[in-house]
Amino acid sequence: MAETITITDNRTGEAIEVPILNGGIDSAEFAKLLPGVWFYDPSYGTTAGASSAITELDGEAGVLRYRGYPIEQLAEHSTYLEVAYLLIHGDLPTTEQYDAWVHDITYHTFIHENVRKRFMEGFHHDAHPMGILVSTLAALSTFYPDAKDIFDPESRYKQVIRLIAKMPTIAAGAHRHSVGMPFVYPDNNLDFCSNFLSMMWKVAEPHYEPDPVLSHALDVLFILHADHEQNCSTTAMRVVGSSHADPYSATAAAAAALYGPRHGGANEAVIRMLTEIGSIENVEPFIADVKAGKGRLQGFGHRVYKNYDPRAKIIKDVAYEVFEVTGKSPLLDIALKLEETALSDDYFISRKLYPNVDFYSGLIYQAMNFPMEMFTVLFAIPRISGWLSHWQEMLDQDSRIARPRQLYAGPVARDYVDVVDR
Ligand SMILES: CC(C)(COP(=O)(O)OP(=O)(O)OC[C@H]1O[C@@H](n2cnc3c(N)ncnc32)[C@H](O)[C@@H]1OP(=O)(O)O)[C@@H](O)C(=O)NCCC(=O)NCCS
Repeated sequence: MAETITITDNRTGEAIEVPILNGGIDSAEFAKLLPGVWFYDPSYGTTAGASSAITELDGEAGVLRYRGYPIEQLAEHSTYLEVAYLLIHGDLPTTEQYDAWVHDITYHTFIHENVRKRFMEGFHHDAHPMGILVSTLAALSTFYPDAKDIFDPESRYKQVIRLIAKMPTIAAGAHRHSVGMPFVYPDNNLDFCSNFLSMMWKVAEPHYEPDPVLSHALDVLFILHADHEQNCSTTAMRVVGSSHADPYSATAAAAAALYGPRHGGANEAVIRMLTEIGSIENVEPFIADVKAGKGRLQGFGHRVYKNYDPRAKIIKDVAYEVFEVTGKSPLLDIALKLEETALSDDYFISRKLYPNVDFYSGLIYQAMNFPMEMFTVLFAIPRISGWLSHWQEMLDQDSRIARPRQLYAGPVARDYVDVVDR
């Protein structure tokens, strides 16, 4: 069977054979064959915006792999920093490469004092930490003018290191500012996640040592959130990066995309929903309301995963490890009852609606004392390694600037009318 599609142009009666490449149609090829005909696809649901070798996602089969490695194996055996190396470089590091990578990241965790004093502390006292994060990332571009050398491998590496390393510092700083607590400097004797927890929670003790179970749980969550191929924020990163903006400006755009409740805010919606349900007895009437079209079951369903979200199972196990230390979340029983009821109900089964990554991540963050405003920030910390790997890949592909067509739907040409005659 030929790997082509035959399209008949009914305007001319001409039949055109369009080649299929990797399951899709190359738009450049199509444009040559049918000049002037565009695809109308505002949410890119049927458009591949990039060719990428980073993350493989098969929603039907419930598969998620980074650079070929199954997410389950990475969550069990790897660390977030090793996964970040894998995403950025394409392969797992040797011991030597890993040590150098961890060293470089550990020694770039500090931020310039003026970033803290002039920018972060300049925000209103109750500023949302995600707003602080987005703006601080953009401000960093003014501190590192060398970042404009995007085709210089040494400069590029430096910015990648800086961004991955400084995310926890900025994230924790944003939280401390929003609750009126003094900024805590990084402790480079701690591992990546423990250092973040220290910057979040340290009060007067000379050295903060978090519970290793909680550091490890956070590390697993960071692995699960590090990349997810061409989602909204990664697409923003690639689109802004295609204009050859510096990586700080591009990551600020990606973080802004993540800020939206349709992208990074679903786990917060889960907590609000569970709180609203309030008790196990209210689960069944709540499900009945959802089935009657009154709202959605937050943390259920996914645009891509139509079998199950492979991250959800891992995260459920992590939740139990965390609850061993923190005590059970009062919302857990409601969540379990909700999951059990929905998974045995034909409404959810027939629509292939399963718990997604957000169903349990909010419960974990809440048990670890993170305020809800920090949930999206916690998503952004590891996702920066995904954004940066896509940014590098896009630059290496020497792609053209992103510039879609539009279908013009406005008025036809008309003449200007003087204001007194309108
Ligand atoms: C993630 C989500 C936006 C994907 O949406 P989508 O792929 O566009 O799916 P659709 O909106 O086309 O939904 C398909 C059907 O399932 C239903 N459905 C989808 N998600 C649902 C949910 N969470 N609760 C109840 N019904 C749901 C829709 O009502 C629709 O039913 P219909 O065919 O009778 O009209 C959607 O599942 C959702 O809103 N989930 C809750 C929010 C969430 O957890 N987001 C985080 C994603 S990681």
